[in-house]
Amino acid sequence: MKKLRLIKNIKSVAVALGVITVFSCNTNTDSKSASGSKSENPYQEKVDSIIGLMTLDEKIGQLNLPATGPITTGASKSTDVVKKIEDGKIGGLFNIKDPKNIYEVQKIAVEKSRLGIPLIFGMDVIHGFKTTFPIPLGLSASWDMEMIEKTAQIAANEASANGINWTFSPMVDISRDPRWGRISEGNGEDPYLGGEIARAMVRGYQQDDLSANNTLMSCVKHFALYGAAEAGRDYNTVDMSRIRMYNEYMLPYKAAVEEGVGSVMASFNEIDGVPATGNKWLLTDLLRDDWGFNGFVVSDYTGIYEMRAHGMGDEYDVTSLALKAGLDMDMAGDSPNIKASYTYALKDALDQGKISMSDIDKAVARILTAKYQLGLFDDPYKYCSEERAKKETLTQENRDYARLVGAESTVLLKNDNQVLPLKKSGTVAVIGPLAKAANNMPGTWSVSSDHSKAISVWDGLQQTVGNDVNLLYAKGSNLDYDLELEKRATMFGKDIPRDGRTDKQMLDEALAIAKKADVVVATIGESAEFSGESSSRTDLGIPQVQKDLLQALLKTGKPVVLVLFTGRPLTLVEENETVPAILNVWFPGSEAGLSISDVLFGDVNPSGKLTATFPRNVGQVPLFYNHKNTGRPLGNREGKFEKFKTNYLDVRNEPLYPFGYGLSYTTFDYSDVKLDKTSMTDSDTINVSVDVTNSGDYDGKEVVQLYIRDLVGTVTRPVKELKGFQKVFIKKGETKTVSFTISVEDLKFYNSNLDFIAEPGTFHVFVGTNSNTERMKEFELKK
Ligand code: BGC
Repeated sequence: MKKLRLIKNIKSVAVALGVITVFSCNTNTDSKSASGSKSENPYQEKVDSIIGLMTLDEKIGQLNLPATGPITTGASKSTDVVKKIEDGKIGGLFNIKDPKNIYEVQKIAVEKSRLGIPLIFGMDVIHGFKTTFPIPLGLSASWDMEMIEKTAQIAANEASANGINWTFSPMVDISRDPRWGRISEGNGEDPYLGGEIARAMVRGYQQDDLSANNTLMSCVKHFALYGAAEAGRDYNTVDMSRIRMYNEYMLPYKAAVEEGVGSVMASFNEIDGVPATGNKWLLTDLLRDDWGFNGFVVSDYTGIYEMRAHGMGDEYDVTSLALKAGLDMDMAGDSPNIKASYTYALKDALDQGKISMSDIDKAVARILTAKYQLGLFDDPYKYCSEERAKKETLTQENRDYARLVGAESTVLLKNDNQVLPLKKSGTVAVIGPLAKAANNMPGTWSVSSDHSKAISVWDGLQQTVGNDVNLLYAKGSNLDYDLELEKRATMFGKDIPRDGRTDKQMLDEALAIAKKADVVVATIGESAEFSGESSSRTDLGIPQVQKDLLQALLKTGKPVVLVLFTGRPLTLVEENETVPAILNVWFPGSEAGLSISDVLFGDVNPSGKLTATFPRNVGQVPLFYNHKNTGRPLGNREGKFEKFKTNYLDVRNEPLYPFGYGLSYTTFDYSDVKLDKTSMTDSDTINVSVDVTNSGDYDGKEVVQLYIRDLVGTVTRPVKELKGFQKVFIKKGETKTVSFTISVEDLKFYNSNLDFIAEPGTFHVFVGTNSNTERMKEFELKK
């Protein structure tokens, strides 16, 4: 694609107005981070000069991010986009595909609008662009920060070649509630791990140069606490104490800010009774003043407008509330049916004296700064390269990497009698409604993915072991007995066509096929859109028709391997009791079939570990490992009921599979925990180590996890908190020493004054294979 001239028209207006110094266009002065430091904005002078040239309409235009993309999730649909761009009334667009389209649209902004200010192009590049990696919850189960960073880097490279320069990722909302469908989009329940992943993702997207044409500006979301929606129902109210927020929920957002994330998306929910979108404490006092963020804040989809339904007032009240709170850009507010938007209401709000020009200028300045940081004033077309797009998108190299990541993210939940790995011989029956559902393999929130290129389990097995293994197939069942539910769970082109046969006919066929096989691979679970946005559930079981299919298959007496698709922790008590092998594959991405085959046949030894607890039943929810002890803890670890203790009459307290849990084809033995000393002060450290021996028959990777418990505090402390982990490769028969260093920073928490401090006293340190570990040593933090 030929490059066009730079933004000449902005230059000529500037010359005419005598502010030519603004446009030296040297965008390489700063790049590392948009926000991480409180350093001066190197573009301030340029930005101020542009603002000096702008009309009020043009200023409000910069704050306008209309919805034009393929997916509409809220009330909005904007109109007259081209005319508005020409009039300088749009600051950016999102979810437009194709570098050619983006180029054309950018050309309108740059050549036809009065000031020629380039647009920013955003997209939900959530877990890969065209090359799609596992859904984030799955990816987090890899516990591999380098790998996670690289997936973001590949996504950035592909997306930026296709005209995108801003991604609405990472989503770092802690969630302890698998009813909430968006748990699939996050990194599970742990703040420390969530923080590490947030950092890795931001690094991967932004690298150390936002202005490079192969990086994206990252947008951490949804700020804040979105994952704590009451009853797991999406968009529902959140109500939480400050101390819980600070200790258990805020850390991943803060980590992203420390890593220099360029932008932040406000969440839909309320916090302390004020929607995040209009919450000044959140968006200014905490985010900017305490954490030092100086990038820009965008609303979520129609978030400003939604404050009307929240009961925050009329269109002038809600827009001014948002702007004054520090919300810079209005996503999807520009729609004729939405009056409560920056586009439609801000001018009047100014006339009414509800906001000032300086409030508007502040927001405009942040958006223009982001455009400078991205190098858009230097070359507005730098991200549109059809040639690069063709060469660098969905390359074999990227696909091979996605195949590996898909395999590394699988979690082996059960493997009795070493049913897995399978032998590459004999007859394998592949049965279940997900076996051929290629379009479901990329999982939820995969707007940029090319679903037609995704590889189903069936195709993956054909490609990998098709010559050695006799593969048989039967669909076995539909996704669900309930047609209406099935429709809701197969949206966005991810349909699993309903079979015209009766349930009985499908089942009979499946049983006949199973009987011919040596082993049955049951590909069942949720469809991709069973989780994700607006996909909350109250029943966390495998859909009943598939449960029935599975039990019928087990009755054939053939060994059954459950290849479980899910976007959330499910309740699997019955399956855990009856199925010999369960491999949780989440939604592995574009290469799903190959990733799954690699694990099933032992080319990759599974090493994923759960990052969200799997409860026994829905009644236990919310259930998480880092809970408090209470005043009436159970006195036994066997889960026996005790009257007047904190437990249930009808189910034990422990989950089915705890946080950090995951098996391997090999086994790992741990030595006792060793400490180099048993006390420390805040100026020294303790070395903690264990010897881990691979005592099984396969080489493998183990995620060694370190947890701490602070026994006494001025506020109650969790029974365990993850404070370190290492993923180590250990050959069979080999022993590796794994060491961690504990410093006072690992012992700090927010006390009731919200001071971040460590209190002297006794601590327990645990090291083991999951959060249930009891392998422990004690140490003191001295004054
Ligand atoms: C979601 C965001 C997403 C946005 C733009 C909203 O509905 O909550 O996560 O980034 O849409 O597509």
